[in-house]
Amino acid sequence: MPETPVLYVLNGPNLNLLGVREPHIYGRETLADVQALCERAAEGASVVFRQTNHEGELIDWVQEARTEAHALVLNPAGYGHTSIALLDALKALIIPIVECHLSNPAAREAFRHQTYVSLAATGVVSGFGAHSYELAVKAALRLVQERRSAPTV
Ligand code: DQA
Repeated sequence: MPETPVLYVLNGPNLNLLGVREPHIYGRETLADVQALCERAAEGASVVFRQTNHEGELIDWVQEARTEAHALVLNPAGYGHTSIALLDALKALIIPIVECHLSNPAAREAFRHQTYVSLAATGVVSGFGAHSYELAVKAALRLVQERRSAPTV
């Protein structure tokens, strides 16, 4: 019986204000709603769901995911566009990383068009509101399964 997958879902700054923050862009669901959605989408996998407004704390959790998680879903929020330190932390991971955004940053202001996180991500899901998280969780778990069933050489 294979080990239950552990999925880290990490959220960066201002996502604690989901539901009240620019709802025309980010939707009316709260972060608690998003957490419940991720737990449902995980179908029995273990979900560690966290949010922080602090860059260093986010980096600490990414480092924790390196040894404790089978996959990482990350909405870096504003730090995705600014943090080389976050990118460096992600580059130390060998597990799948799915970058996730509620909005579609590529269709917004020019300063959102680049995310450093994408350089380390296995894939990116953006633009589907809270549903982005559901898709990201499913994609992350699929990547875990694929790795487990890949023949070892
Ligand atoms: C975001 C997009 C970022 O550009 C922004 O800074 C956020 C949220 C999203 O989920 O759409 O805070 O990551």
